[in-house]
Amino acid sequence: PERAPRLTVIGTGYLGATHAVAMAYLGFEVLGVDIDQRKVDLLNEGTVPFFEPGLPEKLDEALASGRLRFTTDLDQAAEFGDVHFVCVGTPQQMGSEAADLRFVDSAFTELARRITRKVLLVGKSTVPIGTAERLTTLVQEISPLGAELEVAWNPEFLREGFAVQDTLHPDRLVFGVTSPWAEDRLRAAFEPILTEGTPLIVTDLATAELVKSAANSFLATKISYINAMSEVCEATGADVVQLAEALGLDERIGSKFLKPGLGFGGGCLPKDIRSFKHRAEELGIGEAVAFLGEVDAINVRRRLRTVALIRQVAGGDLMGVRVAALGAAFKPDSDDVRDAPALDVARMLYLEGAIVSVYDPEASVNAHRVYPDLEYAASLDQALVGAEVTVLLTEWQEFRTADPAQMGEQVRTRTVVDTRNALDADRFRAAGWDYWALGRPHTAPVPVQVVVSNRSQAAGRVVDKSADLP
Ligand code: UDX
Repeated sequence: PERAPRLTVIGTGYLGATHAVAMAYLGFEVLGVDIDQRKVDLLNEGTVPFFEPGLPEKLDEALASGRLRFTTDLDQAAEFGDVHFVCVGTPQQMGSEAADLRFVDSAFTELARRITRKVLLVGKSTVPIGTAERLTTLVQEISPLGAELEVAWNPEFLREGFAVQDTLHPDRLVFGVTSPWAEDRLRAAFEPILTEGTPLIVTDLATAELVKSAANSFLATKISYINAMSEVCEATGADVVQLAEALGLDERIGSKFLKPGLGFGGGCLPKDIRSFKHRAEELGIGEAVAFLGEVDAINVRRRLRTVALIRQVAGGDLMGVRVAALGAAFKPDSDDVRDAPALDVARMLYLEGAIVSVYDPEASVNAHRVYPDLEYAASLDQALVGAEVTVLLTEWQEFRTADPAQMGEQVRTRTVVDTRNALDADRFRAAGWDYWALGRPHTAPVPVQVVVSNRSQAAGRVVDKSADLP
């Protein structure tokens, strides 16, 4: 039998770094490649350049085994690899909903130019349908004499925060291939995972590409569905958290990805639904996924609705109001602020004149890079000092388990807006907080008159906070 394939992983972001480490951990010889020398140096020293629980330990183990190295040198990669995994990013283009395929195209072509034998090029990035076929033609045109290049697609479904677990124990593997040889090479590269009994779907290139777009669209739709129901709850006094619980108990619906709140963000779901819709329009079948435009719009409305609620509890005007913004990352256990609803809300509050102090356990550095104008606190307590409204934006464990009584000591006014339905409302109320959430009735026991601010224009304003949402 052929020896185990040597693997390269091109692109060492969340996806590639995790894939490279996992494959070395599983026993393969792996070479990770990135154009960013700083990232390569950090990884070779055993430092993961982003926050991902469990990955640093696995990187150390993989480096110590001698099976994993990182380089910027593509010549080395072309020489080394039998199977090349391309894991570069496909961000949204500026000024368009389409995906930017620059990095994918250059990874495939730069590699193809250097290869002189028979190898498999495997795309893992999320791409518009038809990309793998286009790349097949492209790489075959430019590859040197003697090279035999085949392209396969192997979509990746990992979630940030669970990247190691999701890579080592995926729900399923999907191989998009055009020959039995390519299937065999992929089976060899995933042998330890397949041995565990992981379900495998072997299919054509287009279906493999589509699985990813379709899966992410479904997940985004599920979240926007419950958030649309949240809008209905807000208009009718119904409780979306109880609604989600009741719906989720139907096994056909299921409770996962049915958490109502501030909505989805991150480097995947928002741009993937936009790029999928854009590609469908190019194919002349825009109608088929036009609903994704609604899914996107519902999601964006959550952020505006959140700002409106905060403005309302602050008395109708945010100018000069001190807000403690708890969370900046697009979700807990991540330092990723790409299209982060939390940071977007903090920015909008700031633009309306609020004095915003942001605290995130891991994402402050990245957030500061994007929005240097906001104040960044070094701790939860520091963010809370003097706050007139406290807003939970990312449901980190640290916030969920914080003691409302102790939090109350720091703030100026005990008013909390829970945009993720993640806090224990009863505990907060018991500790004297005025608790507000999206999609849930605001059941303050008695009408309260609270001075919300004595700063700038808002000075001395008295507000009836028992008023319900419009
Ligand atoms: C997602 C997909 O889950 C993953 O399969 C794909 O490979 C990449 O995109 P990720 O972006 O890491 O992964 O995050 P995920 O855990 O899916 O959360 C996405 C967003 O949805 C977050 O902003 C999260 O806060 C939000 N969300 C999730 C909800 O608002 N409600 C939910 O019920 C679930």
